[in-house]
Amino acid sequence: MSTATASPNEITLPKPEGLEGVVAASTALSHVFGEEGRLVYRGYDIHELAGKASFEEVAHLLWIGHLPTKAELAAFQSKLEANRELPPAVIDVLRLLPDDAAPMDALRTGLSALGAIDSEHFDETPDLDEAIAVAARFPGILAAFFRLRSGEQPVKPKAGHNTAQSYLYQLFGKEPEARHWKPLDTYLVLLADHGMNASTFTARVIASTQSDLISALTGAVGALKGPLHGGAPSKVLDMLHAIGDADNVEKWLSNALDNGERLMGFGHRVYKAEDPRAEILREMAETASDPAFFKLSKLTEDKALQMLNERKPGRRLYTNVEFYSAAVLAAVGLPGDMFTPTFAVSRSVGWSAHVLEQVRNNRLIRPQSQFVGPTDKKFSAIESR
Ligand code: ACO
Repeated sequence: MSTATASPNEITLPKPEGLEGVVAASTALSHVFGEEGRLVYRGYDIHELAGKASFEEVAHLLWIGHLPTKAELAAFQSKLEANRELPPAVIDVLRLLPDDAAPMDALRTGLSALGAIDSEHFDETPDLDEAIAVAARFPGILAAFFRLRSGEQPVKPKAGHNTAQSYLYQLFGKEPEARHWKPLDTYLVLLADHGMNASTFTARVIASTQSDLISALTGAVGALKGPLHGGAPSKVLDMLHAIGDADNVEKWLSNALDNGERLMGFGHRVYKAEDPRAEILREMAETASDPAFFKLSKLTEDKALQMLNERKPGRRLYTNVEFYSAAVLAAVGLPGDMFTPTFAVSRSVGWSAHVLEQVRNNRLIRPQSQFVGPTDKKFSAIESR
């Protein structure tokens, strides 16, 4: 068993299991079938939904339990639209942030401000209206910060837009083209929920304490930010830029692996086959992204899979959702530092659906730790230590 030691005074701890294989909650929302490489939302395989259902239909499915009828969808879209605009005080808070703040930090701050400013609305028992009210404002918070950091004024959401259109409209201040908002809509469908991932677990733990919805979602944003979870796609872009051209792929990957680095966009805790979202995003990237960039991405993917298989035999490392998210989101016109925040726009639906499920059937989530320290030390006065 490998171990990690921090300093001579630290006790050597066993290699952490990271709760692998532990069932932390029951859910009817989504499930990752890791061995088969399958993802299911409320009974629908992701291939049944991607490119067919809109993000709003999928949000309705996750929050309310079924795919909407036309009338239900129209009412649902109106409700989302009515909740998109940000309170001016939230924009004032975003104005105070430095231009070089990370957009995920701005999202976390904007959400937190929304909870404090509109505290009567977001009381202590999360419900569907709150879930809609918060998720509908994720795009606005990000877009307001995006514009403020480049010296532009935030743009108010426009009636008649779906989430993908509204996000792009609020970011760039002009009518989004179908070649941009349509792939973004499918991307949002693909990322909306994913079983008991780290950020969803975070949200459920917070909700289980009977805290409020915004606290749960703010915590989830913090968990998503890390590169082992949702923070990888901009690093995929950095990797592809650093590789630069086809001749450099093998050398670059080999150096990275020799230095013990992880290749971003590969490996997954649960999938031991290809992530089905990666397969769909690869097809989308082939159509939507710059052909030279797609070619380099594909070459890098093929070589990385070969090398990971050779150097990490038996670990079953495949392409994950983040690898081709980079190409698709870049093709949509987003800069790298907006990739993970855009993931959060989608996952806000899954997170809040999980919070609602948790509060409907709650028991405080409070696991145990294995104590490996001593228990019999005697106090000595500071003079004699
Ligand atoms: N590159 C190189 N080696 C890897 C990678 C990778 N991307 N992923 C796993 N490994 C290796 C580890 O070094 C380890 O090797 P060892 O047995 O020789 O020590 C072995 O595979 C198992 O790794 P763990 O860390 O135990 O795997 P875990 O299930 O905890 O981690 C994770 C999964 C975090 C996604 C990991 O594969 C990784 O770091 N990937 C790169 C970052 C990334 O793409 N993140 C996005 C994930 S998708 C999402 O959350 C939306």
